[in-house]
Amino acid sequence: MNIILLGPPGAGKGTQAARLVAERGMVQLSTGDMLRAAVKAGTPTGLKAKAVMESGALVSDEIVSGIIGEALDALSAGQGVIFDGYPRTAAQAESLETLLSDRARKLDHVIELVVDEDALVERIVGRFTCANCGAGYHDTFNRPKVDGVCDSCGGTEFKRRADDNEETVRTRMAEYRAKTAPILPIYDARGIVQRVDGMAPIAEVTDAIEAILDGKSA
Ligand code: AP5
Ligand code: MG
Repeated sequence: MNIILLGPPGAGKGTQAARLVAERGMVQLSTGDMLRAAVKAGTPTGLKAKAVMESGALVSDEIVSGIIGEALDALSAGQGVIFDGYPRTAAQAESLETLLSDRARKLDHVIELVVDEDALVERIVGRFTCANCGAGYHDTFNRPKVDGVCDSCGGTEFKRRADDNEETVRTRMAEYRAKTAPILPIYDARGIVQRVDGMAPIAEVTDAIEAILDGKSA
């Protein structure tokens, strides 16, 4: 099964993808995470992407479709994929079709996390992750069970993203509205979009997504 999680910055794509990976053994392909890894490693792609990401604008379609193609090639045929943060433009949606069909894969569901934009800045500004294993947290909504200690790996160092500030978030939201939201009708026309209330508590959002994957939801 191959699915897209679609939604604006802070909608919960990464949070939900991590939970599906843990519960279903699916593979998360997050272009944001892959680009941040490239920036950290100082690769040619990372050098091109760094300033663009810090501004909140979108990295070029060629770069992101290239990294998704490479990531798909590294998987075995039976592994289901959760696309997180990709595709984000009509051109990327087109590329994804070719990338999937070339690998005998198809898209099963596009799950839109429907959220209230006013809540997103608070979600993003409060977000942090474990510096060791990458587990995601929030200052208010998703704290580690023991303050300062990662639930997943016991790590005690945490980090925040360079683009998680209010000004950049506004640019990211504008990019979402202008370039990403318009790809939904393409998938709607194919009847594969399902909408989930992304304002519900994290575990309830996961339940709603799992019901869709299990064919228990319209
Ligand atoms: P990317 O990393 O994809 O960022 P984004 O789309 O802005 O989304 P976020 O990761 O900010 O949000 P999320 O939906 O994953 O939310 P999360 O689960 O963490 O992209 C970053 C940049 O990379 C882009 O701006 C662009 O420059 C570049 N890029 C990436 N992909 C690209 C592409 N395809 N094309 C071109 N450029 C690309 O949740 C947020 C917080 O809220 C967390 O703290 C979490 O704990 C909390 N939370 C989550 N769910 C809930 C809930 N239900 N209730 C309460 N709190 C919640
Ligand atoms: Mg994310």
